[in-house]
Amino acid sequence: MKSLRTLAAAALAVALALPLAVQAAEFGADRHAKVGVKCEACHGTNKANPKTPDFATCTGCHKVDALVEKTKGVKPANPHVSPHYGTELDCTNCHMMHSESQDFCAQCHNFKYQVP
Ligand code: HEC
Ligand code: HEC
Ligand code: HEC
Ligand code: HEC
Repeated sequence: MKSLRTLAAAALAVALALPLAVQAAEFGADRHAKVGVKCEACHGTNKANPKTPDFATCTGCHKVDALVEKTKGVKPANPHVSPHYGTELDCTNCHMMHSESQDFCAQCHNFKYQVP
């Protein structure tokens, strides 16, 4: 009886832990943490008044030209350059860092982007 209960408890612990582990690794900020990019790199060092990252924060590390080049083969259209916004659309319209990323262009187009 005791061992059965232990087993059931262990199974429950696994069931609870798994989705949490998957979720924790899912968002952009977590993936940045994994490659050594700390909170401060995006939010600044002033903990009393953290800054909200903007275009310049992201492009400080991700050079726009290189990015456009890297995704030039994405069909049907390069997500990093468009006739409407050029190369200046805020990254966080698509790449959310603490929640599910979004396909900004899907408001009007059906490009089926898989936004990391
Ligand atoms: C790669 C950049 C990046 C990293 C690293 C990052 N964040 Fe963020 N954070 C953002 C962005 C962008 C937003 C705005 C909302 C969004 O896009 O999810 C945000 C929003 C927040 C907010 C909500 C307040 C606000 O300004 O909107 C908090 C709190 C926060 N981050 C805390 C953290 C902590 C704590 C860490 C480290 C564990 C961290 N962030 C790491 C980019 C980052
Ligand atoms: C301090 C440098 C730094 C800053 C600031 C930074 N990144 Fe990154 N980012 C990296 C590194 C390093 C990687 C991993 C290598 C790569 O894929 O380029 C990465 C990976 C990514 C990826 C690849 C997919 C993924 O999530 O694993 C995306 C998308 C991304 N960053 C978007 C952003 C956005 C949007 C911002 C601004 C909110 C930002 N980054 C700010 C350094 C940075
Ligand atoms: C319209 C939505 C959108 C916007 C805005 C956007 N991205 Fe992306 N990004 C994507 C999509 C979609 C991909 C995946 C492309 C693919 O399928 O290879 C991607 C891929 C990336 C990657 C991974 C590239 C690779 O192949 O290693 C990085 C890094 C990245 N974006 C950074 C940024 C930064 C920085 C900005 C702002 C300057 C930005 N993105 C703006 C949609 C967007
Ligand atoms: C508010 C609606 C709207 C949004 C958001 C939008 N588009 Fe468009 N887009 C249009 C319209 C309308 C046209 C012109 C009609 C057409 O050719 O489909 C167009 C045309 C285009 C074209 C030219 C198509 C062609 O066949 O020549 C490209 C490429 C494009 N958009 C890319 C993007 C990308 C990438 C994004 C996201 C970064 C985006 N659009 C976001 C409405 C939008």
